[in-house]
Amino acid sequence: MLLHPQANCTTAPKTASSGTQKRKPPMPDKINLVNKLALFDETWTPKIIGALNGQLVKLAKLQGDLTWHTHTGEDELFLVLEGSLTIQFRDSEVHLEQGDMYIVPKGIEHNPVSPEGASVLLFEPEATKHTGNLIIDQTVTDQQWI
Ligand code: NI
Repeated sequence: MLLHPQANCTTAPKTASSGTQKRKPPMPDKINLVNKLALFDETWTPKIIGALNGQLVKLAKLQGDLTWHTHTGEDELFLVLEGSLTIQFRDSEVHLEQGDMYIVPKGIEHNPVSPEGASVLLFEPEATKHTGNLIIDQTVTDQQWI
């Protein structure tokens, strides 16, 4: 027998104040982006993998193009994990490869396009809709945690 609970007890000794102290929440597990990306195949369907300070961290797979849209109140971050992505603007565009990051400023109309496909990490306020002020067939209103 390797364990001797009584001899190997890790419970902190009781103090006068221990009754009022809150139990510490468990520490979160680490998140592996490769493993998370393997959990889904749907395109243009952001999945939530983390939350902090009112913001959500999401993963999305892109293929083809989404739609022209604008986020009036939020900047939108794209970090390309795999593949490549072009973000079109009305008078210019930016091409992103693996490892590239771009933040679309709020109020700027844009259209993400990825003919070959891409996996991206997004970071945005909880209220942000991925199709901005447009509700279209591809709009996912209740985004899933994975
Ligand atoms: Ni957008």
